[in-house]
Amino acid sequence: MRRSVIQGIGAYLPEKILTNNDLAAMVDTSDEWIADRTGIRQRHVAADGETTADLATAAARAALADAGMPAESIELIVLATSTPDNTFPATATAVQAELGITEGAAFDVQAVCSGFVFALSVADNFIKSGQYDRALVIGAETFSRILDWTDRSTCVLFGDGAGAVVLEAKEGEGTLADRGVLATRLRSDGRYKEKLYVDGGPSSTQTVGHLRMEGREVFRHAVVNIAEVMDETLKQVGVPPDDIDWFVPHQANKRILDGTARKFGISEDRVVMTVDRHGNTSAASIPLALETAVRDGRIKKGDLVLMEAMGGGFTWGAALARW
Ligand code: ACO
Repeated sequence: MRRSVIQGIGAYLPEKILTNNDLAAMVDTSDEWIADRTGIRQRHVAADGETTADLATAAARAALADAGMPAESIELIVLATSTPDNTFPATATAVQAELGITEGAAFDVQAVCSGFVFALSVADNFIKSGQYDRALVIGAETFSRILDWTDRSTCVLFGDGAGAVVLEAKEGEGTLADRGVLATRLRSDGRYKEKLYVDGGPSSTQTVGHLRMEGREVFRHAVVNIAEVMDETLKQVGVPPDDIDWFVPHQANKRILDGTARKFGISEDRVVMTVDRHGNTSAASIPLALETAVRDGRIKKGDLVLMEAMGGGFTWGAALARW
């Protein structure tokens, strides 16, 4: 059975860091309020002129170096972002050009904070179908560009960054012992658009717009939806939560993340948390968290890793992979 094995991982964070105290000088907030409600202490912010494609390209180069593969061997680039450089073309094609790739296909996937799980699932299915052998899956965002920096209820939550993985087709036994993506499950429900959206766009306002969110409502739905899709994903392949070596959730809020882990009986020492240092980097948060845990030696070859995310739309999903 063809599997998409994760052969390399890379990440990029812009140099500039904005602490909670920096934000307290801009809006009526405090380090204590932000840290208590979200677990966030700081976030990275892209420099003037630094775009999502720049962040994505840096993460992609790092992932390729980690995999020991030349860029030209990549046949598919799926880039998850809600903050593209341009309305079109897709930011993935800018990354493709930067990497000097002229063959294969490159396109964006838009599922807000669930973007990485959606992109991973898309690439995995292309690989499983036999259409491509090697793919780059990237999550990259510059949410700092769509924040209303006068709205304390949203501007304190997000950060910029990018993460990428290289997938390669390998023949597995078709068992849970195979390395690679073992299961993915994607969901969406467009009735909830007003709870989390950007109030602009080319076809509606001809402006870029700002992020708007009913935080408490998003929180309520997140807890329910995430638990449901995690449960469905694990049941799809018959894996009990106890077997999970590492839980790598979308990093939106420490309280959501802790609550979900508790519900599934996943102990704190098996949860990868980066929200304190990165804030919510939307589609980039899972690959950034994965990279952190691989680099510091926690996630090792053969470990079972469960990812989940929920974002605007609403969209939500989960993915199970053996590293
Ligand atoms: N500093 C100080 N006070 C604040 C701040 C701030 N930064 N932001 C809001 N407040 C105030 C509010 O004005 C309100 O004051 P009031 O009671 O006088 O009206 C009070 O704090 C409580 O506000 P709530 O919004 O009810 O606070 P809550 O406890 O729900 O926390 C939060 C807000 C952190 C946003 C929480 O709801 C949350 O994490 N929600 C989920 C958000 C999320 O995960 N979003 C990402 C989804 S992924 C994607 O697709 C982008």
